[in-house]
Formats: sequence, structure tokens, C-alpha cells
Amino acid sequence: MVKNICCIGAGYVGGPTMAVIALKNPNIKVNVVDINAERIAAWNTDELPVYEPGLLEVVKQARGRNLFFDTDIEKGIREADMIFISVNTPTKTYGLGKGRAADLRYVELCARQIAEVATTDKIVVEKSTLPVRTAQAIKTILSETGNKARFQVLSNPEFLAEGTAIKDLLEPDRVLIGGDQTPEGLAAIEELTQVYASWVPRERIIQTRLWSSELSKLTANAFLAQRISSINSISALCEVTDADIDEVAYAIGTDSRIGSKFLKASVGFGGSCFQKDILNLVYLCEFFGLPEVARYWEQVIALNDYQKRRFAQNIIHTLFNTVSGKKIAMLGWAFKKDTNDTRESAAIYVADHLLNDMANIWVYDPKVPAKSMFADLDYLGTRSPEENRKHLTVVTDPYEACRDAHAIAIITEWDEFKTYDWQRIYVNMKKPAFIFDGRNILDHKKLMEIGFKVKAIGKSY
Ligand code: NAD
Ligand code: UGA
Repeated sequence: MVKNICCIGAGYVGGPTMAVIALKNPNIKVNVVDINAERIAAWNTDELPVYEPGLLEVVKQARGRNLFFDTDIEKGIREADMIFISVNTPTKTYGLGKGRAADLRYVELCARQIAEVATTDKIVVEKSTLPVRTAQAIKTILSETGNKARFQVLSNPEFLAEGTAIKDLLEPDRVLIGGDQTPEGLAAIEELTQVYASWVPRERIIQTRLWSSELSKLTANAFLAQRISSINSISALCEVTDADIDEVAYAIGTDSRIGSKFLKASVGFGGSCFQKDILNLVYLCEFFGLPEVARYWEQVIALNDYQKRRFAQNIIHTLFNTVSGKKIAMLGWAFKKDTNDTRESAAIYVADHLLNDMANIWVYDPKVPAKSMFADLDYLGTRSPEENRKHLTVVTDPYEACRDAHAIAIITEWDEFKTYDWQRIYVNMKKPAFIFDGRNILDHKKLMEIGFKVKAIGKSY
């Protein structure tokens, strides 16, 4: 029976996942450790570093009881009988595989640290999303550093989505656990199964080989992203044929073989994972000599880039071919609602495009601080940090963002946008008052009655 869990990485996955494991297993001590002292300090306050509905309530119930956040990684490793690796695995920005392969240096560091510090047997669990066969590298590092302790490596990818993390963790469609099909491997799979079985019905806990588990995670994300690119590709066709994307999505989604979820056309998908995981899949296919498969998945990303670019270009074309010196209000910066995460958000690329055309952008997002927005833009390196701050203004009042604007662009589907006094916003805008709904969340008919000129994804008006 597992008595002590250590999770390396207190991010969007490590924090919420461990909070729920601790909540549901009061007899297991759960230590979440991280090299980022600021993040750990925040986990120990009520201002958590991750915004997720319901997360604070879960953390408060378990924190100090059997859930602990700490910077002492070595102690966490030593005490644990099960160690989750939940560190970031971004796309490589250098060297071999640059721009495609996953950067596994943080995972490797964790494996080396475990090998160095461990004095007793451990089950090491890959929670991070990893290329298929990474467990082999981890096993090699663990077994060839002269450590006498024995290690079992499991793959237990996480399927939570941000904004619904707590619900997804409490009621997962499935939990996936992959391991070696040896007696020791199967025993380790069973140990981890028992941790989840405290609240997840057994029939939802899928046990597989290591490689199937690793590959299933990349595949799941590729399929999900592919659905969005598929519907977004049709949105472009709708705009020139008078078909309506929401009607088309509904009509096809009622076919139970297709299903209705994940068919919402948008300004383009964002988030830390879809793009990086597909690029990683593409890299793997090339590495294993499967260029046709690589090209197939690459198109999902190409279409997504096109969708973001198309949205920004549409704003420029509609505003009489220039936004130079014009105030454009952007509502939303997060990559989806109910999160403060902005990684790969479509907002960054739309803003960059409009700034290239000399727009003055005013942004309002209910959860994202100005610091993150500027960090996102600066990271692109398109222009100097000073220029970014000169042409992009961040405000905490949406009405201020929209006052005297030539156009409004809805980038994130925050519920509060639907509740605004759109009449008041219209009165205070420059005319013609344009609104570009990148999420199709507003009542377009009502907006047109007020006087707005509405442009939306997959609509021909
Ligand atoms: P994150 O960047 O929010 O968190 C990772 C944390 O790991 C950071 O706080 C970092 O300081 C810490 N870290 C890095 N190296 C370390 C080391 N050597 N020792 C201790 N701490 C270290 O990342 P995330 O969003 O939580 O994602 C983690 C993994 O989970 C990724 O592989 C990602 O693909 C996967 N994933 C993410 C999501 C999601 O919704 N964000 C969902 C499923 C899977
Ligand atoms: C996604 C997956 O849904 C999770 O299962 C997975 O665990 C996670 O990636 C991961 O591996 O990181 P996440 O990126 O948090 O979760 O959020 P999603 O709900 O999948 O949304 C991703 C992007 O697609 C967002 O920008 C969202 O607005 C967009 N989207 C989603 C659409 O444009 N249309 C849709 O129909 C659905």
C-alpha cells in the first residue's frame, strides 16, 4: 500500500491532481515539490498560482492535513514510495528537433535526481505528457547510476482540461495506467490503481502496456485538436457560401458516430499542449520514417495558424484595409474561459498581427494580469518591449477598453461578456461600430439591432 507520494512539479497539472489525490486518500501523505519557490509559496496561501473553479476549496480541505507544498525536493523524493514527475515538457527551442521535439531536459533532471537521492524502492510515475518510449530513457537513467534501490516506471498521463480541472479529476472519463507486463510491473500498476480506486470506479481505470499509455496521450490530444481544425476549416467555407457554422456543427454532431462535443468553431485553439503535442507527434513520425503520417498531423497545426491569421486579417480588411492608429478593444486574453493560463493563446497572435498593422490595442481579461500579456508579446520578439507597451494598453474595466474603439474582438469565451450592457458600449464607440466575435458567444441579431456591424466565425454577415 502506498503511504507517501511525492509529486515533482507544482504546475497546472501537479497542483490540482495531487490536491484531489490527497483529498480522496486521507491516509496517504502527498508532498508536492517544485524548484520555483514563488510558486510553492503561493500554493501555501489562498492566492493559488493556478486559477481553477473549485480548486481552492479542495486544497483547503487537504492542505496541512495530508497535502503539503514544499521546495525540499530531495526530502520529498527520499520519503516517498511513489513519485510523480509532473514537470513541463515544452517544444525544444534549440538544437536537434528544434521547434518540434519535446524538450525532455526537465524530466531527465528529475530522473537523475531520483536516482541520486533515493535510498528505498520507488514507483516512478510519468504524469507529464511524453513522447512514446520516454520511459525507456527514464529506466536507463534510474538503473545505470549505481543506485541499489529498485524502480518501476509507470505511465499515467493526465487528461484534465484547464477551467474544468477539478470536475475532470473528480469524475474522469477514464484513468490510464501503463506499465511493464512483468510481475513487478503489474504489481506497480495495481498500487497506482488502488490510489485512484478511492474515488474512480474500477471499470474506468484502464491498464495497458507502457508504450500504449504514452502514445495514447499524444493521440488523444491530436484527435481533439483535429476536430477543432476540421470545424474551423469548414467555418472558412461557411463564410463564403452563406452556410452557418453553428448549424453545420449541430447537424453533424447529432450523428452519434461523430458526437457533438469539441465542434465549436473559434479564432483557433490555444493552450500549452495541443500544438506542442502534435509537433511532438510529427517529430516522432519523421524520426520513425513515416513522413506521410507526419504531414497528415502537421496540417492540424497549419490550419490553426491559418485560422488565427484569417481572423486578424479580416479585422484589418473590414476596417477599410488599415487599423493604423485605430483603437481596437480585445476582450479576453486567456486561451479559454475559466483559466488565467495564456500559453499559446490565439490572443497573442491576433494582437501581434494587429500591432504589425499599427493598431492601438486595449485589452480586458477578467483573470489575466498585464504582466502575463506583455510577457507573451515580448516572447515573440516581433518588436521591442517598449513598443509593445506603447501600443497595447491593459485595463480592468471592459467598458473603458471599448470606449472610442473602432472595433471589438472577442477572443476568449468568458461568460461575463454575454452579460454586458451592449447598448451602452455601442453608444460610446466610434461609428461604424464593428464587433468581431471569435467565439460566437454573443447574440448577433440583438447586436445588429443595436447598430453594430457584426462579423463572426463561420457566418457570412
Ligand atoms: P507547468 O509549467 O504549469 O508546471 C511545471 C512545473 O514543474 C513548474 O512549476 C516548474 O517549476 C516545475 N519544474 C520543472 N523542472 C523541475 C525540476 N527539475 N524539479 C522540480 N520542479 C520542476 O506545466 P503543466 O501545465 O502543469 O504541465 C506539466 C505536464 O503535464 C506537461 O508535460 C504537460 O504536457 C502535461 N499536461 C498538461 C495539462 C494542462 O492542462 N496544463 C494537461 C494534461 C497534461
Ligand atoms: C486539452 C485537452 O482537452 C485535455 O484532455 C488535455 O489533458 C490537455 O489539453 C493537455 O494535455 O494539456 P486544455 O488545452 O486545457 O485541454 O483545454 P481544451 O478545452 O481542450 O481547449 C483547448 C483549446 O481549444 C482552447 O483554446 C479552446 O478554446 C479551444 N476549443 C476547444 C475550440 O476552439 N473549440 C472547441 O470545440 C473546443
